[in-house]
Amino acid sequence: MKCIRSELIGWGHYLPPKVLTNDDLSKMVDTNDEWISTRTGIKTRHISEGESTAQMSVKAAGKALEKAGLTAADLDLIIIGTLTPDNTTPSAAAKVAGLLGVKSGTPAFDVSAACSGFVYALTMADNMIRLGQVRTALVIGAETLSKVTDWTDRNTCVLFGDGAGAVVLRALEGIGTAEDTGILSTKLYADGTKYGFLYTTGGVSTTANAGYITMDGKEVFKSAVGCLSDAAEYVLKDAGASVEALDWLLPHQANIRIIDGVGHKLGIAPEKVIVTVDHHGNTSAASIPLALSESLESGKIRKGQLVVLSAMGAGFTWGGVLIRI
Ligand code: UT7
Repeated sequence: MKCIRSELIGWGHYLPPKVLTNDDLSKMVDTNDEWISTRTGIKTRHISEGESTAQMSVKAAGKALEKAGLTAADLDLIIIGTLTPDNTTPSAAAKVAGLLGVKSGTPAFDVSAACSGFVYALTMADNMIRLGQVRTALVIGAETLSKVTDWTDRNTCVLFGDGAGAVVLRALEGIGTAEDTGILSTKLYADGTKYGFLYTTGGVSTTANAGYITMDGKEVFKSAVGCLSDAAEYVLKDAGASVEALDWLLPHQANIRIIDGVGHKLGIAPEKVIVTVDHHGNTSAASIPLALSESLESGKIRKGQLVVLSAMGAGFTWGGVLIRI
């Protein structure tokens, strides 16, 4: 049965120029390259020096629009997954719409789902495209996590980085099978009973400031492998595709041990797993679009290939998207 699909027609990413190494961090807190590398797989991360989430988003979006051969005037929708918007209100998406020069009346909003923010945003955009409400959507994952990082806490400050990734989706009539291009299946989850395992120490209605990220790393780790694999398995099954048919697993980039665990659990060879955590660190909602855009740009992920995106983060929230490029 024919159906409307959301085809990926553009992508782009932006990383702020400043690179922070593990050796740099060892001069700030009691840590070392050996610990960070073996426990997390992270070697370097990018840190914004004055560029906001919206400003980085505009740079990533500009590249995505150029790749798609479109201008901001062609957009019908903007969604940004972020936990670090420029202001508490309005949304980063509204600011980006203004900065890009998107036509008045185009809906723009943020999604707050922490590290799952991009997968949530992509799912919202896909649903609106499938319903025929919009035809062309800009979906961004962007973070300035350096602003909510406690740079004196070695448990967390070695993990995070800044950056932005963007994609442009366009409605396409598909044949309705897993052979279609575009988004084939999406699935979102949350479990609010896990709220206290990963959160910021502040918030608007409590402390009236943003606070800093704090987490029970072991508890998050324990749930992460299961959540990320379950979401990937669900969307594969839902689309009638097998793990063997998959070209790439692109999981949230939080920790190489989690990424390896997911690949192992799903039975996917390490060569088919996208890894950018080594040079991006954990960029929360930006992690998947950064890795996706970088892999498409380098030619690692190619047209026609089947890719499963899988994210997990604070909330807990988690989810998966199956897409044929
Ligand atoms: O993005 C959303 C999802 N987030 C995640 O998926 C993160 C999940 N969690 C993790 O990735 C890991 O739990 C961490 C990387 C955060 C921590 O790794 P771990 O293997 O669970 O280490 P740990 O917290 O159990 O700490 C082990 C030891 C402790 O020392 P003792 O108590 O054994 O003496 C820590 O104090 O390592 C110590 N430690 C450090 N040592 C050097 C903690 N942080 C550091 C550090 N440098 N930066």
